[in-house]
Amino acid sequence: MSAIALYRSAVGKKAAMAASGLVLFGFVLLHLLGNLQVFLGADKLNAYSRFLHSLGGLLWAARLILLGAVLVHIVAAYQVAAMQRAARPIGYARRQNLASTYASRTMKYGGVVILLFIVYHLLHFTFGNAHPAFNPDDVYANVVTGFRVVPVALFYIAAQLALGLHLRHGVWSLFQSAGIHGVRLEGQLKLGAAAFAAFVTLGNISIPVAVLAGLVHL
Ligand code: HEM
Repeated sequence: MSAIALYRSAVGKKAAMAASGLVLFGFVLLHLLGNLQVFLGADKLNAYSRFLHSLGGLLWAARLILLGAVLVHIVAAYQVAAMQRAARPIGYARRQNLASTYASRTMKYGGVVILLFIVYHLLHFTFGNAHPAFNPDDVYANVVTGFRVVPVALFYIAAQLALGLHLRHGVWSLFQSAGIHGVRLEGQLKLGAAAFAAFVTLGNISIPVAVLAGLVHL
């Protein structure tokens, strides 16, 4: 089967979602580990940011891969949903959610919230248009002054909860698409997906919380 014919099938689209999801998931994890250096002080975080910016072409290649993964993920998600709607043109007379979880039913809404978060986040910490005191040479100060604005910190926390729910179901689906499943494994895989999602969510949330609590300061 050609790659195009495979992509036309539901299985192919799910594989595209899984592959792009894996790239995004890798980024979120690396980004979190990089950001946690805020707890090691301004010098460490700023040196890390300078290192990333010094990569030049490599950084741009990573950005393009990331952007490509976001686009594939959204287009494939939209197409899978459209195929599912086409398979059942008349809605259920009475909908009962028997085999789905809250996380799986909210993937679409969570995805939209995450997308809006990313647009705001780039304007906030990368371009600085939405930041009250942006300094392109001082990422640490940007984080501290950025999260001192309480509604902004609260928005970040809410967005991380949406991301956590999305990741929990996404990682679980990734296991399924990769053929890692089975009755005996199910409990462990669910636990693994939930533990990973909780690590990312709590790790990200710890940063605005630490700024608001005065633990991370200028
Ligand atoms: C509270 C959690 C987060 C903090 C404190 C944070 C912090 C930052 C900072 C300071 C930058 C600018 C880095 C620099 O210019 O050197 C940045 C960039 C970025 N962040 Fe986050 N981030 C968080 C969560 C996220 C999440 C959850 C995502 C994606 C879902 C994300 C996606 C990005 C992207 C795409 C960039 C631009 C990278 C580039 O191309 O330069 N961030 N983040």
